Amino acid sequence: MNPPAQIILDTTEAQKPTETQRSFISAVPRGEAKRPFIQRLFTRIAPRYDWFNRLASGGLDQRWRRVAIARGGVRPGQRILDVCAGTGDLALLCAQRQGGSGTVIGLDLNAEMLAHARRKPQGQRLRVGWCRSDAETLPFADGTFDRVVIGFSTRNLNDLPSGLKEMVRVLRPGGRLIILETGRPSHPLVRAGYQLFLLTGARLIGWLLTGRCWPFTYLAKSVQQFLTPAQFTERLQRVATQVEYIPISYGLASLYLATKP
Ligand SMILES: C[S@@+](CC[C@H](N)C(=O)[O-])C[C@H]1O[C@@H](n2cnc3c(N)ncnc32)[C@H](O)[C@@H]1O
Repeated sequence: MNPPAQIILDTTEAQKPTETQRSFISAVPRGEAKRPFIQRLFTRIAPRYDWFNRLASGGLDQRWRRVAIARGGVRPGQRILDVCAGTGDLALLCAQRQGGSGTVIGLDLNAEMLAHARRKPQGQRLRVGWCRSDAETLPFADGTFDRVVIGFSTRNLNDLPSGLKEMVRVLRPGGRLIILETGRPSHPLVRAGYQLFLLTGARLIGWLLTGRCWPFTYLAKSVQQFLTPAQFTERLQRVATQVEYIPISYGLASLYLATKP
């Protein structure tokens, strides 16, 4: 396997959002401006990211990750890449499931998020590798991995089609892409309640934890404006086969499985 490459984007200078960024908050940012915005956002919230996840999901986020890993067929001995690994929870759960036999690499562009991942003792014990790089230009050869996982991040990518293509490229033929995303409940009342919670309760939790509201306003809007399960399934069918959509917890989370032909 190639040694992890480093793509350095300066995100250490976390500032208040600029006017352009403020305008992004009412509409999900697009194009090249999105990457630095997303990086600044995660630099800001990295120290409280895990707390936010646990509190905002009522502790369900780890269960969703476990379901994704189990349904995606993660097994001992496999080579696994966690793309947009953030603070590393998905990569660590994969390594735990493998009982330390196999290879798990967590990749993320954000140095702060990765620093928190690196500090977690389970990762050191299970020898998870961490790599700072861009999801849209993965520093690995074609067919390197048995499983590529990505959690709560596809909606943050600059260019979703090229991100999906890259993830499929580094899978071996027959390998599986496991995508966990914040969901879109099909029942209209559940969906309305969930969106209301994202815009109120989740933002309040985020503000209490970090003293900032704008990152959580963006997160809520990005969930609201993201592709529906039918649209996302169609995108996946362009690059993979056997695409499956599995709603979890009444659709609060969405799991997509896809196979490289
Ligand atoms: C919502 S967090 C998800 C973290 C983790 N997967 C989890 O399960 O909690 C999104 C992560 O995606 C990363 N990210 C966004 N765009 C990226 C890109 N183009 N390349 C690599 N990482 C990226 C961010 O830095 C951030 O750490």
